[in-house]
Amino acid sequence: SFPTRRSSDLRCVFCFSPRVFQVSPTKTRFNPRSMKKLLLLLLLCCGWMTQRAAPADSLIRISTDETDLVLKISPAGRLYQVYLGEKLRHFEDARRLNWQVRTGSDGSYPVRGFEAYAAGETEDFFEPALGVTHADGNKTTYLYYQNHRQQPIDGGTETLITLRDDRYPLQVVLHYAAYPKENVIKAWSEITHTESQPIVLNRMGSAMLYFDAARYFLTNYHGDWAKEAQPATQQLQFGKKVIDTHLGTRAAMQSQPFFELGFDAEPRENEGRVLLGTMAWTGNFRCTFEIDNTGVLRLLPGINPYASAYTLAPDSVFVTPQFIFSLSRSGVGTASRHLQDWARRYQLKDGMGDRLTLLNNWENTGFDFNGKKLATLMREAKQLGVDLFLLDDGWFANKYPRNDDRAGLGDWAVNRQKLPEGIAGLTRDAKRAGVKFGIWIEPEMINPKSELFERHPDWVIRQPNRETYYYRHQLVLDLANPAVQDHVFGVVDSILTHHPEVAYFKWDCNSPITNVYSPSLGEHQDNLYVDYVRGLYKVLQRIAKKYPRVPMMLCSGGGARCDYEALRYFTEFWCSDDTDPYERIYIQWSLSKFFPLKAMASHVTDWNKKTDLKFRIDVASMGKLGFDMDLSQLSEADWRFCRKAVARYRELKPVIFDGDVYRLLSPYESQHAAVNVVDKARNRAVLFTYNLHPRYAENLRPVRLQGLDPDRQYLVEEINLRSGTRGLNTTLSGDYLMKVGLQVLRPDEGTSRVFSLTAR
Ligand code: GLA
Repeated sequence: SFPTRRSSDLRCVFCFSPRVFQVSPTKTRFNPRSMKKLLLLLLLCCGWMTQRAAPADSLIRISTDETDLVLKISPAGRLYQVYLGEKLRHFEDARRLNWQVRTGSDGSYPVRGFEAYAAGETEDFFEPALGVTHADGNKTTYLYYQNHRQQPIDGGTETLITLRDDRYPLQVVLHYAAYPKENVIKAWSEITHTESQPIVLNRMGSAMLYFDAARYFLTNYHGDWAKEAQPATQQLQFGKKVIDTHLGTRAAMQSQPFFELGFDAEPRENEGRVLLGTMAWTGNFRCTFEIDNTGVLRLLPGINPYASAYTLAPDSVFVTPQFIFSLSRSGVGTASRHLQDWARRYQLKDGMGDRLTLLNNWENTGFDFNGKKLATLMREAKQLGVDLFLLDDGWFANKYPRNDDRAGLGDWAVNRQKLPEGIAGLTRDAKRAGVKFGIWIEPEMINPKSELFERHPDWVIRQPNRETYYYRHQLVLDLANPAVQDHVFGVVDSILTHHPEVAYFKWDCNSPITNVYSPSLGEHQDNLYVDYVRGLYKVLQRIAKKYPRVPMMLCSGGGARCDYEALRYFTEFWCSDDTDPYERIYIQWSLSKFFPLKAMASHVTDWNKKTDLKFRIDVASMGKLGFDMDLSQLSEADWRFCRKAVARYRELKPVIFDGDVYRLLSPYESQHAAVNVVDKARNRAVLFTYNLHPRYAENLRPVRLQGLDPDRQYLVEEINLRSGTRGLNTTLSGDYLMKVGLQVLRPDEGTSRVFSLTAR
């Protein structure tokens, strides 16, 4: 069992124990041997102190260039948050911070602090970060500081703080990874124990953070299929507001795993104290926002404990999801640019790399295609100027052919009737056409009408004794089962082993977990939601290890998967099946707060075909551009227009993908939208402007850009113009463009104008 440390023992962690100094009194003062011994002891102590002990003042500082999170060890050895906010200019000031909070106006209530990782059933009466039922049934946990260390990580510093219960052999390691330049902190924890029997975790918080402001406003994002990332802002009041999901296989859909917090005022784009936060977990997450009796906001991100009282065997480690956040004192825009920089550098798969433009066939052909038709589409992709042709759903299964969404999922052999020459024929045709080839898979799922189901009914999550409920006619495979993990890995592995030319995957997930029962977990059904996601990560890790360079799009019946843990393995995600350009402006607006534009797959389709093709292309260009439409129907003029727009996009990709994004004009606050992106050197920029439903005789205001160099002149060229039209072409200073702006909005519904800016 762990050695435990009672509160009185803690003194030797912070200061030299009296015994060390009293080694000598009984000895001769100048005895060289005992002096040597003492020196050795002192040296050892010093080494130990610098490596493991808390600083003499018992403060632990976790900081970025702009933010400080300060924790303090109380005399009794408990760990409290004493500060979270703008970076302290003089860290000595932090010594004044007190962990104690006296509640009640007459001071008669007990003294308590804001515990860094509060465990349940203790003296804190609010939602805990950790809840444990110990092997003997006891439900209390008191965590005491043991040691901490800081170690360099790529781009920053990780602080690891070990806490232990003083009565039970239970340990929690709090992790805080701070990225100074990007002003991002990631927090998570690891729980482990050596009790004689398994323990049960009923609260599994990633971290606990406290904020102090007069008022708190939360903007969270909700939605549904084709309605992703809809913002809702509210003032938080005493009590709890929870955002969470029970979807099992995904974090997003009805509720998205990211949010904005505004302190003292609603979150605004360019001003105010705000926090942008997001959960890196591809399953049931929960973020609790609780205002307590002292008016402090407690933010508690973690696993959703719903139906998940997790049984943890002795010596196993429970790692919580990571919670990622950035604090800003100048609004959402700054935090969002920080988050995007951080994601590109440290989280998103191939975050600094290029992305492939593509032609997809889903909206065009659905399930109805054959090899000949696809070869034509590949040639069209080449004519269009995109990099890759992406074959969507419908290419597989023979006994139960995948001709609609009712059959075939699970049988990942090419459908010989549609594609007699197999994948080899497809990669050959793509090569002939001069484009790369990518393919759609949905390997976590199964249709009951499949050979896989006939072979392995025990691999399926479903109720043994109830009628089965189907979501899109399919069921979810039991990824808690290692044999199923092998199968899912095998789907990708077998395609790439036999056809290394396959250059891209679209990985779909069209069903939440339904009929929740895992045949492999026996009596530990409560572990399913967590073990499913862990099983998925094991598969993705194996794929990343064996095929580190293959780009993949994360898709989930539209945009129901877009969390930063999954995005370690995916180069981009599909924002929504809703590609109506009007709707996409709103969806992409919201998502761009949390994700780099290069991660946001956006396609030009025939959704809302009555809008002009230019409008649709201009909207999709504000992300990772693709096409998914019947190009054979296009007029010669439209073809020319598309080709030119793709060529321009390819040239501007470095700015759009890796530049700083400034959201200038919100579609939520006007009848228009405008965004500009500026490269890091402020040499080049792109301005996207959209007119949605302008009002009659509306006063159109100039669009003021942001992020340019005020002292440089920029050539402003309107691009993506229909032939025969003349656009703006002028040179203006960055100062003028940012202070006066461009009079470029139009009173015409469903129109757009895009500008390229080049510093002279
Ligand atoms: C999901 C995806 C679509 C398409 C279909 C295929 O709905 O979001 O883009 O791939 O599946 O069945």
